[in-house]
Amino acid sequence: MSDRLLIVGADGLLGRSLHQHWIAGGVPVVGTTRRLEVGVGEVIRFDLATPVEQWPPFPRCQAAVLCAGLTNGEQCRRNPEGTRQLNVHQTVRLAENLARQGTFVVFISTNLVFDGTKPHRRADEGVSPMTEYGRQKAEGERAMAGLGRLGAVVRLTKVFHPGMALVRGWQRDLAQRRCIAPFDDLVCAPVSLMAVVEAIATITQRCLPGLWQLSARADISYADVARTIARQKNLDGKLICPVSCRSQEGLEHVPLHTTLDTTAAENGVGFKAEDPVEIIQRVFTT
Ligand SMILES: NC(=O)c1ccc[n+]([C@@H]2O[C@H](COP(=O)([O-])OP(=O)(O)OC[C@H]3O[C@@H](n4cnc5c(N)ncnc54)[C@H](OP(=O)(O)O)[C@@H]3O)[C@@H](O)[C@H]2O)c1
Repeated sequence: MSDRLLIVGADGLLGRSLHQHWIAGGVPVVGTTRRLEVGVGEVIRFDLATPVEQWPPFPRCQAAVLCAGLTNGEQCRRNPEGTRQLNVHQTVRLAENLARQGTFVVFISTNLVFDGTKPHRRADEGVSPMTEYGRQKAEGERAMAGLGRLGAVVRLTKVFHPGMALVRGWQRDLAQRRCIAPFDDLVCAPVSLMAVVEAIATITQRCLPGLWQLSARADISYADVARTIARQKNLDGKLICPVSCRSQEGLEHVPLHTTLDTTAAENGVGFKAEDPVEIIQRVFTT
């Protein structure tokens, strides 16, 4: 078996960052893209939506990370069948095909497989999704369990990175002395993109099967995220005028808690569950 790694969906947030991480470390990696322009490294053109018979042959790789998918919760809510076809049926077919050729497969999931009624959900608790996106991820996870030692699931809470459109918008508005209206009753348990990439890279390279959870130590409201960033960037916090997320049309579900128990990842891959304010401060230092 080749020691090469495969990233399916190497243009998205996680796929691109993992790709850069492995290229920088001299790790042999192949990425898939559905775009026309060719990036760095070895690239395969692949559209997960095409029928299985039209899929390109995938190189024999030691392990693959599945990062391709329709990741917008609102899109899943509005088009459950279309998004399910890609996020569940096509993704599971791909995972099974890769496992059949001996490739270890990593599936990226979410805290939204839980209903958010309790904090620090353990990996062995039964799933209870309240959104279409969460239901699709729970189905994907179930299929991955069928791959046995050739499969891993990594559940993530909200990934924060310096380029986040939401935060950039807040910073721009505050800098221009315009008010912003973050939700004070919607929470997240931020994890930094860098920490997530390192943990997923370790799980993939060491082919560590099972269920892994990456999360902050506690939840933080989006209003408090905005306040932390305003303090960090020396922007006027008085321009922050929090609102309720209940004013948002079409919101499928408001979890009270989003944290996950990270014991396995802390002991097994050196992940550190940190305080959410410290994570926000570190991600937006510059
Ligand atoms: N980011 C988070 O906070 C977070 C949290 C929990 C779980 N996750 C999960 O982590 C995984 C990666 O998330 P992400 O944030 O990196 O998502 P993302 O930035 O939205 O990237 C999704 C990727 O999927 C690709 N894609 C979409 N449709 C495709 C198709 N038909 N064929 C091939 N590729 C297709 C996109 O390609 P284009 O670039 O060409 O559109 C893009 O590269 C997802 O499974 C997501 O659900 C993410």
